[in-house]
Amino acid sequence: MRNIKQIKNLKGKKVLVRVDFNVPIKDGKVEDNFRIQKALPTINFLSKKGAKVILITHLGKGGETLLPVSRSLNKFIKAKFVPEIIGSNTTKSVADMKNGDVILLENLRNEKGEQGKDKIFAMNLAKLADIYINEAFPVSHREDTSIVLLPKLLPAYAGFQLENEVKNLSKAIKNTKHPFLFILGGAKFSTKMPLIKKYLKLADHIFIGGALLNDFIKAKGFEVGQSLVDENNYGIDKIIKNKKLIIPDYVIVRNGDGVMIEKTIADIYKDDTILDVGIESVKLLEPIIKKSKLILWNGPLGKYEDGGAKATKEVLKMISKTKTESIIGGGDTVELINEMKMEDKFSFVSTGGGATLDFLANGTLPGIKALK
Ligand code: 3PG
Repeated sequence: MRNIKQIKNLKGKKVLVRVDFNVPIKDGKVEDNFRIQKALPTINFLSKKGAKVILITHLGKGGETLLPVSRSLNKFIKAKFVPEIIGSNTTKSVADMKNGDVILLENLRNEKGEQGKDKIFAMNLAKLADIYINEAFPVSHREDTSIVLLPKLLPAYAGFQLENEVKNLSKAIKNTKHPFLFILGGAKFSTKMPLIKKYLKLADHIFIGGALLNDFIKAKGFEVGQSLVDENNYGIDKIIKNKKLIIPDYVIVRNGDGVMIEKTIADIYKDDTILDVGIESVKLLEPIIKKSKLILWNGPLGKYEDGGAKATKEVLKMISKTKTESIIGGGDTVELINEMKMEDKFSFVSTGGGATLDFLANGTLPGIKALK
């Protein structure tokens, strides 16, 4: 990947920076600025060099405005918001830009062409600028127009955070440090099975949490009550006896009366909902964490938005007390890390969710390939 520092003479150049400001928004306000903050070094570098920086991003599935994102961005840097993507307003705003200015265009997903690999849309975007930069690691697993077609139409470079993501996540693929602990939570079993299979080879232990754990409990033949489970088994039976897998014996459930209690997986009732890994099982992880030389973690251990954040927080605290190299990814875990103001306690916190998983499984992403 070509690095931004390799660009000669940025002064006066129009640079389209594809960022990922797909951030959580509630009541018209951005709840977590992590992704915005992580793009700032690239934006500031370009602006200080006298480039005209045009930021483009998606938000949600389309239909939403980036106005709340623009308000948040303006807490850090001055960036004019243009409520349009392609059109006369955008053309004029770009023409009026002075060296070092930053503007933010409207939600890319409001244009059908963004998710349709649309050459015309790509060409219209390309016309706005001289250079393209991908600073959108979290969406680089999508074959969206601004991710895979646009870089083919302009000289294309990787942003600083994208480079950091690749450098750090690659450590978890080419790792030579052992013991290597992989903690895997979250939901969507189908997307995680390739990763489990891969890390059964690369890691020394895999600790299972999140809704994935429900699938393992079910596969062991226990009741899972009202808990979220995947319809398919995806070959769980073939791996369930692997000694590297740590499948917690204790869970926190919400029972039929709405009360949260910790119990063993053999005691789950039909009206229970599993919401988190039990603290008794989390305790068993402590000596493994202490001994590990590398910890990779993706996905929360519980349904944190429903009161199941305890195990994730405990494990974050345990890791933060060690000097072990720790690489953490997955949107929801990151939200908790930021809420606990602990980002600096880990070696690397990824901005990606699905993209992090895909990168760990495949060692590259469509958006990264497109930069070559
Ligand atoms: C993310 O939040 O994972 C990225 O922004 C990608 O969003 P998407 O899953 O809607 O494509």
